[in-house]
Amino acid sequence: MARHTIILDCDPGQDDAIALLLALASPDEIELLAVTAVAGNVPLRLTEGNARRVLTLAGRSEVPVHVGCDRPLLRPLETAEYVHGATGLDGAELPPPAAGPAPGHAADAMIALVMSRPAGTVTLCATGPLTNLALALRKEPRLAERLAGIVLMGGAIELGNVTPAAEFNIYVDPHAADIVFGCAAPITMFGLDVTHKVLVTEPRLRAIEAIGTPVARAAAGLLDFYSRFDRDRYGEPGGPLHDPCVIAHLVDPSLFRGKACPVMIEREGVCAGRTVVDWWNMHRHPPTATVMRDVDADRFFKLLTERLARL
Ligand code: BDR
Ligand code: CA
Repeated sequence: MARHTIILDCDPGQDDAIALLLALASPDEIELLAVTAVAGNVPLRLTEGNARRVLTLAGRSEVPVHVGCDRPLLRPLETAEYVHGATGLDGAELPPPAAGPAPGHAADAMIALVMSRPAGTVTLCATGPLTNLALALRKEPRLAERLAGIVLMGGAIELGNVTPAAEFNIYVDPHAADIVFGCAAPITMFGLDVTHKVLVTEPRLRAIEAIGTPVARAAAGLLDFYSRFDRDRYGEPGGPLHDPCVIAHLVDPSLFRGKACPVMIEREGVCAGRTVVDWWNMHRHPPTATVMRDVDADRFFKLLTERLARL
């Protein structure tokens, strides 16, 4: 299986935290160069501290966390404490961070890390609003062609989760999303169509809790808290687990299925943040992203549970 060298750009957030833990638990498949934090689920001060807490929980506080943008490119920041709680990581008591933030803005760190390595060797994983990545793409126009790819959680073919039209990560910074989806790097998109098939059901949650380690107990607490809002809203047997799909795809791409499509971003108005996915290529435009739509959820949770047990 291929080994991926990645940067994880995120806004932890419980599901971002699980994505980070999955990456740390998968060293044969994933080399994590750095974490970059962006404002999203909660303000930046919290997301960057949360990233450092999760690394400390996993005993990996040497992984650098670069602090990025504290607001979207053009719009005011909208956060999601109603899902994630006041801290962004409600549901578990995490240790205080053992290391401070790394020097250098997140966008500059992305540029430096990618441009100093051979072309096509670093994958940018994004599980929050795309502000940091868009800024980096604007600052260094050669960045897109240098990346192995961008794998992101965001968007939806069907309904949104913040407005009828838009998913949270794209909604928060649609102008950044437009820059990213317009860049030359190959993009893999995990939108709500697929992540809503990855449900944290009671038996799946209990299997993680039963591992019994401090990391697994914390993960179970985070997942339990985080699933409540969506479970109540959608009436499903569990809340959808979004961000870890990005990492699981790198660990085992056979878990997911999708197809290459043109994707356009609506930036303004009542549909701001909508990802218009031309699944049947009616416009006859070249594809801009591989849009994932299906998943083997049982195998996904088997992988996640087995990997969390390693930490
Ligand atoms: C996305 O928004 C956030 O609430 C989650 O962390 C995830 O990245 C889902 O819409
Ligand atoms: Ca996120």
